[in-house]
Amino acid sequence: MSAVEVVHLTKVFGDKVAVREVSFRLEEGEFLVLVGPSGCGKTTTLRMLAGLEAPTRGEIVIHGRRVNDIRPRDRNVAMVFQDYAVFPHMTVYENIAYGLRSRRAPAAVIRERVPQAARTFRIDHLLDRKPRQLSGGERQRVALARAYVRDADLYLYDEPLANLDAQLRYQAREDILALHRQKGKPSIYVTHDQAEAMALGDRIAVMRDGRIEQLGTGAELYQQPRSRFVAYFIGTPSINLFGITLREETGSLVAEHAAFRLTVPPERRGALAPYRDRPLDLGIRPEDLHVPRLAPFPVDEGNQLQGIINVIEPLASGSVLYLSTLGEPAADFTATVRTRVPASYLGKAIPLAVNMAKVHFFDPETGLAIR
Ligand SMILES: Nc1ncnc2c1ncn2[C@@H]1O[C@H](COP(=O)(O)OP(=O)(O)OP(=O)(O)O)[C@@H](O)[C@H]1O
Ligand SMILES: [Mg+2]
Repeated sequence: MSAVEVVHLTKVFGDKVAVREVSFRLEEGEFLVLVGPSGCGKTTTLRMLAGLEAPTRGEIVIHGRRVNDIRPRDRNVAMVFQDYAVFPHMTVYENIAYGLRSRRAPAAVIRERVPQAARTFRIDHLLDRKPRQLSGGERQRVALARAYVRDADLYLYDEPLANLDAQLRYQAREDILALHRQKGKPSIYVTHDQAEAMALGDRIAVMRDGRIEQLGTGAELYQQPRSRFVAYFIGTPSINLFGITLREETGSLVAEHAAFRLTVPPERRGALAPYRDRPLDLGIRPEDLHVPRLAPFPVDEGNQLQGIINVIEPLASGSVLYLSTLGEPAADFTATVRTRVPASYLGKAIPLAVNMAKVHFFDPETGLAIR
């Protein structure tokens, strides 16, 4: 039995389908991230799990119990919201104690757990303050401490770090993972930041227009995206997409673009042959473009393209290059190379080797990956 099972969950508001047929299972101790653009149904999904919104159709089962008709407070689900939802008239202590009190926890349990949670989140010196006397990061930790004192069956987080600056976000992420590991309960975390999703999730569900477009580990989504949408959403900088036509030439398939011709590896031939002479979208991740002398594969005529360097962004151990293809119309693309490219290369054309074993092809009409 899975810890959480969601089956064909659907929510319709008037004529708007906010969540469509969402299904997934969550095992004990698993951390699932829901990620996707604004309006794709992430919050609505969480609110249905918490019992704050009634599903139009579908089932929610937690530890084998169908909870559709069970009130939020009886579901034993803890939720941390984006706006923290701390009570302004209560002290930090009372805020943290609230979830325990409302479930009639014995006073001794409250006296023990509240200070312990406050220490865990480094707010034990703030227990007498009111929320307005706290910084955003401190308020956020109050909300986390309040979830932490409870022994919930499921922990839900709706963009809890959205209002924090980069440094605090990093720290708060660690806090959330620490909380998760200590509790060992299933957690679902919503964000629209793919980098955060990759950093936190055991598995990630990419949502689009109310549906789960793909659910898998970060590595699966990155290496085997089901669609152009997932390919583009996961990874920074985003995957480069080029409109190409597949041509048959002396026994091999060639991806033909106005500015380059790339030979398709023979093992991809079977899946791609039906698309001969048809337009396709070719996806090349910035990390799969290499300075030829540093390429981890043999470089030849069939796996190189040229680009003019427009911008060089230095990284700790390499550079992000923003380039344009030669020829008209020029296409912009990005390469993350493992060498520091000096500024003297700006405006110059350089060759880049493409790791053809890792490129992606998408049907331009359906957006689905061809494998
Ligand atoms: N109470 C409601 N009544 C009508 N439409 C709603 C309601 N709540 C949400 N919606 C609509 O449902 C869709 C999904 O909303 P939801 O809040 O779940 O998106 P989200 O993925 O959380 O987006 P964001 O990243 O902006 O928070 C949106 O189009 C939204 O306008
Ligand atoms: Mg939302």
